[in-house]
Amino acid sequence: MNEKSNPIVVALDGKSWEEILPIVSALSTTGCILKVNDLLFLEGIGRLLPRLSAYGSVMADLKCHDIPNTVGNTVKRLRACPPWAVTVHASAGEEALKQAVKALEGTPTKVLAITVLTSIDEKTCGEIYCRPPMDQVLALASIAKRAGVHGFVCSPEEVGKLKELYPGMEFVIPGIRSPGKNTNDQRRIATPKAAMEAGATKLVMGRQILDAPDPVGEVNRVLKEELAIDINV
Ligand code: C5P
Repeated sequence: MNEKSNPIVVALDGKSWEEILPIVSALSTTGCILKVNDLLFLEGIGRLLPRLSAYGSVMADLKCHDIPNTVGNTVKRLRACPPWAVTVHASAGEEALKQAVKALEGTPTKVLAITVLTSIDEKTCGEIYCRPPMDQVLALASIAKRAGVHGFVCSPEEVGKLKELYPGMEFVIPGIRSPGKNTNDQRRIATPKAAMEAGATKLVMGRQILDAPDPVGEVNRVLKEELAIDINV
C-alpha cells in the first residue's frame, strides 16, 4: 500500500528516535507519511531526515514563522534531503512564504501554509486575530496562494470552503479524532471520515495512533473501518 491510497500522516510527537523506530519500521508498509517536529530539534535536520526517509515520506513540520530571510535560510537546510513537505506559518507574510518556495525550487518538496492552528477556538482566535477562524483562515490562505504555496494546513471546519476556492491544492488537516477518542488540546476537530468528505487530501493523526497499544493496528483500523480504504491494495 502506498501513500497515494493512504491519506494518514502520523505525527511522531514527543518521542525519541529510539522510541519511534519500531513504530516507523512497522508503519513503513502502510504508506503513512511521517510527520516530525520536536524530534528535528533533538536530532537535527541533517541527521534525522535521511534516516527517517528510509521508512516513508516525511513531513518536516518546522512551522517557520520569521522574517523572510530567516525563513529562507531555515527551509534551505532541507535541500540536502528534501522531504515530502514543509510547513511555514502564513502569518509570517507573503514574502516569507515566497522565500520558502524559492528555497526549495527544483526539489519535490511542497510548501504548506499553516493557517489557524486547530488548537485555537473561536474565543482565542478573536483574541489573537480579531476575527473568527473561518475569516482568518480565508485571509491567510489568500496571502499564501499569492506566494505560490502548494497546500494549506487548516481545520476540518474550513477545508470545504478552501477547497472550493483553491481546488487542486494539498489540504493537510490536523484536529482529527475517531468517534469517542480523547480530543486532548485540539479544538476545531472532526472524524477522519468527516474530514475526508469535507475535502482533506491528508489527515494528520498523532496521539490517537501513538498512544494506541498497537499503533499500526490503529492505522489499519481507521483506514478499513472508518475510511473504507482497502489496506491490501
Ligand atoms: O496528537 P494530534 O493528532 O492532536 O497531533 C496533531 C499534530 O498536528 C501535532 O503534531 C500538531 O503540531 C500538528 N498541527 C496541528 N494544528 C495545525 C498544524 C499542525 O495540530 N494547524
